[in-house]
Amino acid sequence: MWKRTIWTVLISAAILQGIPACASAPRERLSINNDWRFMKGDPPGYALTLAYHQLKSWILPTGNPFINDAERRLPRPQSDPINGGHYVLAALDESAWRRLDLPHDWGIEGPFSRAGSGATGRLPFYGVGWYRKKLDIPATDAGRSIFLDVDGAMSYATVWLNGRLVGGWPYGYSSWRVDLTPYIKPGGENQLAIRLDNPANSSRWYPGGGIYRNVWLVKTSTVHVGHWGTYITTPEISAASATVRLKVAVANDSKQRAGVDVATQIFLLEGNGKKAGTAVAKIAPVHLVIAPGGTALVDGTGMIANPRLWGPAPQQKPNRYVAVTTVSRGDQIIDRYETPFGIRTLKFDPDKGFFINGQHIKLNGVCEHHDLGALGAALNVRALERQLEMLVEMGVNAIRTSHNPPAPELLELADAMGLMVMDETFDCWLRGKTPQDYGRLFADWHEQDTRMLVRRDRNHPSVILWSIGNEVGEQGQGEAGAAIAKKLSDIVREEDPTRPTTCAMNNAKADSPFPAAIDSVGLNYQGAGMGVSGPAQYPAFHKNFPDKFVVGSETASTISSRGEYTFPVASGTGAVASAKSGEDTATRQMSSYDLYFPPWATSPDKEFAAQERYSFVGGEFVWTGWDYLGEPTPFDSSRSSYFGIIDLAGFKKDRFYIYQAQWRPDLPMAHILPHWNWPERIGLKAEDGTPVPTPVHIYTSGDEAELFLNGVSLGKKKKEPFQYRIRWDDVAYQPGELKVIAYKNGKEWATDTTKTTGAPSRLALKPDRETIAADGHDLSFVTLRVADQDGQTVPRSKIQIQFEIEGPGEIIATDNGDPTDFTVFASQERKSFNGLALAIVKAKRGRPGTIRITAKSTGLKEATAVIISR
Ligand code: GAL
Repeated sequence: MWKRTIWTVLISAAILQGIPACASAPRERLSINNDWRFMKGDPPGYALTLAYHQLKSWILPTGNPFINDAERRLPRPQSDPINGGHYVLAALDESAWRRLDLPHDWGIEGPFSRAGSGATGRLPFYGVGWYRKKLDIPATDAGRSIFLDVDGAMSYATVWLNGRLVGGWPYGYSSWRVDLTPYIKPGGENQLAIRLDNPANSSRWYPGGGIYRNVWLVKTSTVHVGHWGTYITTPEISAASATVRLKVAVANDSKQRAGVDVATQIFLLEGNGKKAGTAVAKIAPVHLVIAPGGTALVDGTGMIANPRLWGPAPQQKPNRYVAVTTVSRGDQIIDRYETPFGIRTLKFDPDKGFFINGQHIKLNGVCEHHDLGALGAALNVRALERQLEMLVEMGVNAIRTSHNPPAPELLELADAMGLMVMDETFDCWLRGKTPQDYGRLFADWHEQDTRMLVRRDRNHPSVILWSIGNEVGEQGQGEAGAAIAKKLSDIVREEDPTRPTTCAMNNAKADSPFPAAIDSVGLNYQGAGMGVSGPAQYPAFHKNFPDKFVVGSETASTISSRGEYTFPVASGTGAVASAKSGEDTATRQMSSYDLYFPPWATSPDKEFAAQERYSFVGGEFVWTGWDYLGEPTPFDSSRSSYFGIIDLAGFKKDRFYIYQAQWRPDLPMAHILPHWNWPERIGLKAEDGTPVPTPVHIYTSGDEAELFLNGVSLGKKKKEPFQYRIRWDDVAYQPGELKVIAYKNGKEWATDTTKTTGAPSRLALKPDRETIAADGHDLSFVTLRVADQDGQTVPRSKIQIQFEIEGPGEIIATDNGDPTDFTVFASQERKSFNGLALAIVKAKRGRPGTIRITAKSTGLKEATAVIISR
């Protein structure tokens, strides 16, 4: 039901925000992503005059609406800054500037640099970048309020219109608005210029660089619903009815007092995101008188009979409603604003865990960074949807937006798909983790960035928890750290008291003051116990904070490379990774037996056991669902992480199946690892002559399994209590076929086989979607397999592939999930990594037709795939 193409998502988002059918509509929200000019670097001599610290007095006022204490708001200086340089002027000769569409990430274009930092993916995301666009503002816009809404720009954005500095916002993950009205000239072209200044050493992972999310022009009447000006709660819910409480902030940008009527109708949102025909409830109209330049609040309630609740899939359905608020002057509607929302009850029970709509549901969550692999930080809704779809297939029901505000589209997708979200603000507070990170902004901006997140996201039913930070240095600072935690929690509670705050704590102690300052306890790694034998801290926190819900906010951090295996294999619940344990230091790959982790982390198995043992724990958020750019622990010289359950290209690692087995117990499945191509292990003996085994592990949602090698049973084994894999650690390798039959409650439940393959003989291509929209955004992810003559994927093949494309599409990136591959993502040539590679195909805008992709490799039969673009 929620399977939608990127544009239906964007269009429905636009409809919800009120894009008009005609120009006279009261509110317009126009995408202005297309046709920008871009230049890297400042004009000579301007780097200093344009630096943030020089322009801060003009930028800080942009955040004023997010500061509650009027005394702390800074007025804009009387005069403009001395010099903006010629890049802000309309007359500039742009012939040397690059033409591009947003969202754009300049860092992902590469090239990778071996000398660069592994933490940030060895990509050039840093530096200054300028974006310019001419806005054609019709004369009929005179007298309207006009805003620029930026969903995310990395980072330190300053906005100039017609040569004048309008404002800006430094935190690259925040969404923000600047008011263009005082600077705009209706009746012609207006020159918009945005400067970004993205510091190096500002992140522990790849942040991207550029205007990497959507950008909108919003035009309203001077009296209009304020920015993120609605707040919906549902204080009473029963099977018979739900009370919907709606607060609306109405702004009056004019110089006169305004008298208006504010009314709201509520409609059911259908599965396709469209509102159903007739209103299911009304909120009575209220007459408001708003002072010039002021904002007034309406607070009303309505009743929905027999409410359809929003709940997580698969147990519940993500039903949604939309509140349509109109602001009228006499008979004339001067604003219409739509707020999608959901109705659900949340209960965070300290002893029993998490309940939604009265049903106990364990949070089967993953942490996700914001990058989209080979596409970098540049938002693409289909790429994001694909990430979420695969996680859902694994059994995920919750996402933690580690460690920053996500793209608004993530929450729209989560609402529609029935995924729950832990929405997070920061990776650090005052005590930074890298020299140029948020630590430098925290003092001036923490309130604005925190209120921004909550105000933007609080109507999303998917959001269940607010996280005020990740592993902040202040955890260990006694009362001083706790005071900051309390301050941030208080800010969140002022904006939204309906969801608890949490903070992801990796070293705060159960007897320290820090956890007392937040509503619920989020534990990173220490919950189950760090490393092999670290003691579980879930019970100590539960004991010391008996009134607080406890969750594993970050767990496992197991590292692996898809399709790589090292021997011998660790016993028990695994081992800290080292040259002798899981690491292949020559190839910089990590063994995929899913038993290796850094010293602070652990295996899926150990966390599962802790979750089972301490049933009061609400669930976990595994580090991470997908691999991400940067942080290539333990091989800093690589480009991307090893933590993902799914690799950077979107191919499932073995780990996918241990989570699926645990999180989707009703899905009959079994998975064998490793692959069975080990010619060098035939008859392998140790120095003392003893046979060297090739362990075979099975992940299954069954409770018992029998393994066969070339038809001979190697025994039937049960999953013992607190065991999550069934292992045959003494298998003597011989080529042929491994087959497992899994049982549940004594009955045959699922099977899996893996065979020794022949040599590479041909290529195979498979698009994830064979029809895509010709809108310049939609994507098809085409998987390449290197197959033997029987069509089986050759598991260790690493061979050079050339991709070619014909028709109205382009291959915008290729990848293979290999963290050590430094070929730029835009390359049309890519090595397969353990049998697989990926080509990402984008359809050209407005040019429907047949796209044909061909993959070639010397000596192998080529493959072709066809994608229809409509
Ligand atoms: C955590 C941290 C994450 C990531 C992870 C890797 O401590 O919160 O951002 O660095 O370690 O294991």
